[in-house]
Amino acid sequence: MKIGLFDSGIGGTTILSAIRKLLPDEEYKYIADSKNCPYGEKSDQELEAIVTANTDSLIEWGTEVIVVACNTATTRCISYLRDKYPTIHFVGTEPAIKLATATKAKDILVMATPGTIASERLQSLLAENQKPNQTIELLPCSGLADLVEQNYNSHNLAPVTDYLTKLFQNIKTTPEVIVLGCTHYSLIKPEIQSFFPTAQLIDGNDGVAHQVQELVQK
Ligand code: DGL
Repeated sequence: MKIGLFDSGIGGTTILSAIRKLLPDEEYKYIADSKNCPYGEKSDQELEAIVTANTDSLIEWGTEVIVVACNTATTRCISYLRDKYPTIHFVGTEPAIKLATATKAKDILVMATPGTIASERLQSLLAENQKPNQTIELLPCSGLADLVEQNYNSHNLAPVTDYLTKLFQNIKTTPEVIVLGCTHYSLIKPEIQSFFPTAQLIDGNDGVAHQVQELVQK
């Protein structure tokens, strides 16, 4: 089966790897849409045009399954895509709030793009899952995905570490669990972990891979 994926660049490759571990024999096409990075700072209208172009190009390649390997595009546009393309199966990537709130952690930090943090979908995920004894701090990381995009492949993560140093100075809690609510952040797990050595870092990658596996097996 042909499985198509897209993200605003290399972030979604972490999802691609998780899916290929479960489904090594399928055919894959991955759109690394870096010319439109960052998605996290775009309007709904701009994002809808971008996800439509990516979807059209994956459909042209012949796929019926599209993985939106991006939290921003998922939280902001997946309903739009499902309405517009009713015959295509879309699997989305959402901040792993459900997994994080199912732990015993009292302090949870959610790192995501400004677009994801501002989305209605994130608010519903919080309303559905947050426990009364849990504090969830939302941390919009404006520009971080772009920094990862620009520096990851050249193995120069000093600008990312400098950014994180400033970013984490302003947080109010000491998180036990950190939700990596942007696929680009999964690429810099060691850098984030170095600031919070005992925190558990959670992304939704394995969950997405299992959903794709179920879909393909059906
Ligand atoms: N990697 C994407 C996400 O998961 C988008 C990052 C961006 O382009 O702002 O949110």
